[in-house]
Amino acid sequence: MNHDIVWHQHKISRSERAGLKNQGPCLLWFTGLSGSGKSTIANALDIALFQRGYHTFLLDGDNVRHGLNKDLGFSYDDRVENIRRIGEVSKLFADAGLIVLSAFISPFTDDRRMVRKLFPAGEFIEVFMNTPLETCESRDPKGLYSKARSGQIKHFTGIDSPYEIPSHPEITLDTSQLSIEECVENLLQYLKERNLILDS
Ligand code: ADX
Repeated sequence: MNHDIVWHQHKISRSERAGLKNQGPCLLWFTGLSGSGKSTIANALDIALFQRGYHTFLLDGDNVRHGLNKDLGFSYDDRVENIRRIGEVSKLFADAGLIVLSAFISPFTDDRRMVRKLFPAGEFIEVFMNTPLETCESRDPKGLYSKARSGQIKHFTGIDSPYEIPSHPEITLDTSQLSIEECVENLLQYLKERNLILDS
């Protein structure tokens, strides 16, 4: 840390910025195995919120790893750094007043806790995609599970790299049991109940 850099307090707060848009700033953090539905549900919720006039931003593993985090792989240290950067970027968007949707495997409890701590209580919403490994593997949309099983990819989450199950997620969804629409309805309901979006 550079001790010669002093934090400059902004004059306009995140809630004032969000107030312009009639929404509460927050981060919906989608965590779960590859193929569990994180990106699909985050995208569907993004569309549903956009159609209702809310200002959102979606960050997702496959895209961020092409840009901001293209220097990172899937070793333990790289995954920690991946999540640290995404947490900070998510916070900047929330500070801008937006509803942020971040979809990353984020397999480690400590890293998710680190992101949670960046947010005021109630503004970090952990969404655990609790779709069974068998379902994720049978979907295998990118063919990565089969490569991991045959040893072509190392450190693949759920195969030869661990996924630590969230102990107290705000929301749990299993896309082997629920449709996309049901998942989105659950999430919208949660946001309404906490006054992060209007009840319309
Ligand atoms: S995280 O573990 O660091 O949170 P992140 O969500 O950014 O992962 O990226 C996961 C995506 O990278 C997967 O959806 C998959 O497409 C791809 N990927 C490539 N190699 C691996 C691997 N070894 N483990 C998991 N995902 C991988």
